[in-house]
Amino acid sequence: MIAVKRISHATLETPDLKRQIDYFTDIAGLVLAERENGRAYLATKVGDLAVQLETGDQARCARIAFQAAPDADIDDLRRGIEAEGLRCHARNDPAPGIAKMLAFDDPKGTVCEVFVGQTPIGGNRAIPGIGPIKLGHLAFVVDEPKRYADFYCRVLGFRVSDWIEDWFVFLRCGPDHHTVNFVHGKRRQMHHIAFELKDWAHIQSACDFLGGRKIPIIWGPGRHGPGHNVYTYHRNPDDQIIEMFTELDKMLDESLGYFDPRPWHRDRPQVPKVWTMPTDIWGLPPSADYVRQRQ
Ligand SMILES: [Fe+2]
Repeated sequence: MIAVKRISHATLETPDLKRQIDYFTDIAGLVLAERENGRAYLATKVGDLAVQLETGDQARCARIAFQAAPDADIDDLRRGIEAEGLRCHARNDPAPGIAKMLAFDDPKGTVCEVFVGQTPIGGNRAIPGIGPIKLGHLAFVVDEPKRYADFYCRVLGFRVSDWIEDWFVFLRCGPDHHTVNFVHGKRRQMHHIAFELKDWAHIQSACDFLGGRKIPIIWGPGRHGPGHNVYTYHRNPDDQIIEMFTELDKMLDESLGYFDPRPWHRDRPQVPKVWTMPTDIWGLPPSADYVRQRQ
């Protein structure tokens, strides 16, 4: 097992690269940091690589990149991955600010990328659109959530933060309540990609901005149970669900084993558990346009 510390960026393939670049810059509010043939690198306004776009036959999440401890030895990481019986490839200069990266497939064929050092690729840029402060998490529809939870815990060092019954699992690799989620559904695909906003005021301006562009909010605002994040969801032109959230639970000290206390917690302390439906603290149920992602 190795131990990744945080998510860096996701690589999304798209049949229409320009349309996705336009969405992620003008609506989501990321910065186009670099563009080459069939590929674009998008950073947050504070300069962290968050989304890599590549031309592909269909819209899908092809890869997720995680950062391990900056002082980790990349050859040790490679041996740790191969010790799990996985075929691991190394790539040089895979993305701006990253010198070397390891890559292997998870059970559904999404490529997991691991690196140790990263240089920010921009910084404090004025942007149009919503302007998240970081990439927060990715959720995937799979046939067997437990199998994927076991894989990410065993290979990459994730911990289980919460389950909803036996069909939705939330995994953390750092203080954030979840960085990767797996939900049971019919088709293996990305369920949503989530970006963290600064605060409630930022959620409000995001909703006003989406409303002004006549982009429907398909669920929220509301406050989830697992993770307790305040959320809104909409779809991008590739029909992918985009979440904007704030106030996600944090486990600041793993040895304590509970999430930092918050007024909206119903458990004292808030420890990882299995939730039963309905789970949200407040807010209305999701729209049919949200629910169809698992069907
Ligand atoms: Fe989410």
